[in-house]
Amino acid sequence: MFKLGDYEINGRVILAPMAGYTFHSYRKFMSKFGASICYSEMVSDMGLIYDNDNTNEYVIFPKEEVPVGVQLFGSEPENLAKAVGICEGLNGKNIDFYDVNMACPVTKVTKTGAGSSLLKEPKRCGDIIRAMKAVTSKPVTAKIRLGLDKNTTNFLEVIKELEEAGVDMIAIHARTAKEMYMGEPHFDLLKDLRSKMNVPLVISGNIFTAQDAVNALSITGADAVMVARGGVGNPMLITNINRLLNGEKEINPSLEEQMEYCKELAREIVEEKGEFIGIRLFRSIGPRFFNGFPYSKALKSRIVSQIVTYDDLERILREYKADEKIL
Ligand SMILES: Cc1cc2nc3c(=O)[nH]c(=O)nc-3n(C[C@H](O)[C@H](O)[C@H](O)COP(=O)(O)O)c2cc1C
Repeated sequence: MFKLGDYEINGRVILAPMAGYTFHSYRKFMSKFGASICYSEMVSDMGLIYDNDNTNEYVIFPKEEVPVGVQLFGSEPENLAKAVGICEGLNGKNIDFYDVNMACPVTKVTKTGAGSSLLKEPKRCGDIIRAMKAVTSKPVTAKIRLGLDKNTTNFLEVIKELEEAGVDMIAIHARTAKEMYMGEPHFDLLKDLRSKMNVPLVISGNIFTAQDAVNALSITGADAVMVARGGVGNPMLITNINRLLNGEKEINPSLEEQMEYCKELAREIVEEKGEFIGIRLFRSIGPRFFNGFPYSKALKSRIVSQIVTYDDLERILREYKADEKIL
């Protein structure tokens, strides 16, 4: 158990922020499997300041079961603080904390000085946290990387600045910005990191099995681990990490169960986003429920290319199940 501000967090698995995925219905679905904290997709501070409708949509959602943070990206402390004020006005009662993205390596974000670009200036990272904390009493957290590249792994300096500024929790993706999402994460560089810190630590990078999570937690001493790509189509990963940590046997969902989870998520996305947008978003998630099942290649490509409505999904899954080859 650890604390995020006043929230007592009982589990050690957190749903990572993922643009294009971690909207309200996906978070709601994943928290049923045991995620103890969720984040929104990243939201531009300037989008909020310019009152862009699409941006506002990211921060307006119903109250959720577990603490949810809105993740902001930007480069100027005062603009990020302004964005927090705007979020409070739009949906204050349903937002439980604010996070700053200091990790995104994508050029569209870094060229504005945001995301992992901030790691170049540890002092600015601290100033951002200070400015945000001045306008909200809710916890303010940060997500960082090891550094920009392997010659500038300055995470210890960044963590020190963030802690001095009063940050409430730090998540670290154990890769450099240059490594993007590729290669092995460097948990070895983060050995016993938690013992050098004063606030809760969350660890991220290649968590695809429950054992991956247990290893990352034990090397770093982190309070919690983040599930990102590994949880897409495999929500039971979250349950299994919690089970393995409790010494319980992992659960291996059957095809039948994966079909039910897949349909449940599709229904929830359609309910949130409407059928037209909802099904388009679902197409990048749905096929992954069937990784590793027999003859799933054809099924996956039908889900990507042939689903226009929720009923199409039901029909395609029925036809797959009726195919005698898979029985
Ligand atoms: C499609 C995608 C979108 C992502 N979007 C965000 C984001 O909006 N904010 C963020 O801090 N990290 C984002 N990430 C990074 C993840 O939160 C996570 O740190 C990273 O994927 C490493 O974990 P993994 O190797 O287990 O996937 C994203 C990753 C992916 C694959």
